Amino acid sequence: MVAARITVNGKEAPISPSAPHTTVLEFLRERGLTGTKEGCAEGECGACSVLVARPGVNKPTDWVAVNACLVPVAALDGQEIVTSEGLATAGGPGMPPTLHPVQEEMAVRGGSQCGYCTPGFVCSMAAEYYRPDRCPHADSDSDRADSTDAEHGPNGFDLHALSGNLCRCTGYRPIRDAAFAVGTPTDEDPLARRREQSPPVPVATEYVRDDGAFLRKSTLAETLELLRERPDAVVVAGSTDWGVEVNIRSRRADCVVAIDRLPELRELRVESDCVEIGAALTLTETERRLDGSVPLLAELFPQFASRLIRNSATLGGNLGTGSPIGDSPPALLALEASVVLADADGEREVPLADYFTGYRQSVRRPGELIRAVRVPLPLSPVVAFHKIAKRRFDDISSVAAAFALDIEDGVVRKARIGLGGVAATPIRALATEAALEGRPWAAETVEAAALVLKGEGTPMSDHRASAGYRSAMLGQSLLKLYARTTEAVPS
Ligand SMILES: Cc1cc2nc3c(=O)[nH]c(=O)nc-3n(C[C@H](O)[C@H](O)[C@H](O)COP(=O)(O)OP(=O)(O)OC[C@H]3O[C@@H](n4cnc5c(N)ncnc54)[C@H](O)[C@@H]3O)c2cc1C
Ligand code: FES
Ligand code: FES
Repeated sequence: MVAARITVNGKEAPISPSAPHTTVLEFLRERGLTGTKEGCAEGECGACSVLVARPGVNKPTDWVAVNACLVPVAALDGQEIVTSEGLATAGGPGMPPTLHPVQEEMAVRGGSQCGYCTPGFVCSMAAEYYRPDRCPHADSDSDRADSTDAEHGPNGFDLHALSGNLCRCTGYRPIRDAAFAVGTPTDEDPLARRREQSPPVPVATEYVRDDGAFLRKSTLAETLELLRERPDAVVVAGSTDWGVEVNIRSRRADCVVAIDRLPELRELRVESDCVEIGAALTLTETERRLDGSVPLLAELFPQFASRLIRNSATLGGNLGTGSPIGDSPPALLALEASVVLADADGEREVPLADYFTGYRQSVRRPGELIRAVRVPLPLSPVVAFHKIAKRRFDDISSVAAAFALDIEDGVVRKARIGLGGVAATPIRALATEAALEGRPWAAETVEAAALVLKGEGTPMSDHRASAGYRSAMLGQSLLKLYARTTEAVPS
């Protein structure tokens, strides 16, 4: 086994002697690359953002921005990253470096004051700068950001790319101005050229020390054998939940097994009767590859955390935590999805409605992995995902409701409703579904069903919301969907 190594700004470096739980952020700062900052160490601020070369959706390689505070450096064995220091081009002897176009725009447009958040912003901005399908508008005029909607610049820059970056002092307008002013990479741009080559291939990793082991196998079969021998191992995919456990709750594992690069968990297949989504595809990859073909998920993705988190987070991880406030379960329950569970003895398919058994508990056995999520086809045409949270982006739900309805000739033929945040597990709103099915999709039915929906689950009061607020939001959620379908709010 070759010693674990990572390429940073074009130079290869050994990962040793880092501990298996050392994050990319700690690794970089210990080596003097202090441009990458620690703000929160829990994925909330983006000060630690760096670029990783990942398999591309439209080009062989995409530059993807991730939170360096959440990813163990051992997870990037054999991989290639660029930090804010690596964006600028070195000057000649005695000459200062030439700023990268995104750094230049941040400087000239006043996008930085204390500068603490700036390296993170420029890395997130650079990822969007290099997004291959970012298209400037025909009437592009970088000084007239008002010529397009508030979240997309005339240069095609999607502000959601910055949804995981916080700034305490500059204010976001100059940062937005800088984002909307960046141009298109030139043909000589080394990072643009790098997109045309394949990304680094995933390598098997055996990083074993006295204080723990970080292991990555090349295939699913090898991984499942390993998990049979080590059912106590902690499985990690994007590490957006596990990284918080390590940093904030000081959790350590004797053995961590990485599954995020397993090819068998990274397939997306559209069959005649279902869409099968690999459990280790990131939410960004899933969003881009589905390209709106599952409208309920297309509504969900922009509301899930931030772009930085979605660039690492997976559906497998969201279901793997078993959290009652995860955002994907309500949507997947409404879609009547199932999970494909795999262990060394084979596979089984479990409807998601039967998967959760209690608070953070599921039918998944030790040594078993979620290989994929299956969404049956055809899809119900009337869908909505309503997430009620304190902030619009990058926040956990207080309550979430997902709807998938078949309405024919004005009558509700089928209703599937998934709820999060109102019980110890995500649940189906079975009583509300019954109150809708077979009835006209009309104000009277919807108002009666909204009362039933308010009584679903056993919501609790906590620091996010009171039980009464959660119930009220459920009822409102159905009324809001009705208003959207009829353009009329029931009295
Ligand atoms: C700042 C921030 C914002 C967030 N916002 C949201 C949000 O808006 N909505 C939301 O729902 N969540 C949110 N999360 C939580 C988290 O991002 C999601 O739960 C995410 O989907 C986890 O995926 P992951 O691949 O990173 O999981 P990991 O951290 O790698 O793993 C999480 C757990 O799942 C298990 N696991 C992972 N993959 C599998 C698999 N294939 N089979 C079996 N078990 C598996 C792991 O063993 C671990 O116990 C947020 C997290 C952060 C840090
Ligand atoms: S340090 Fe705040 S997101 Fe990483
Ligand atoms: S410039 Fe100070 S936090 Fe953003």
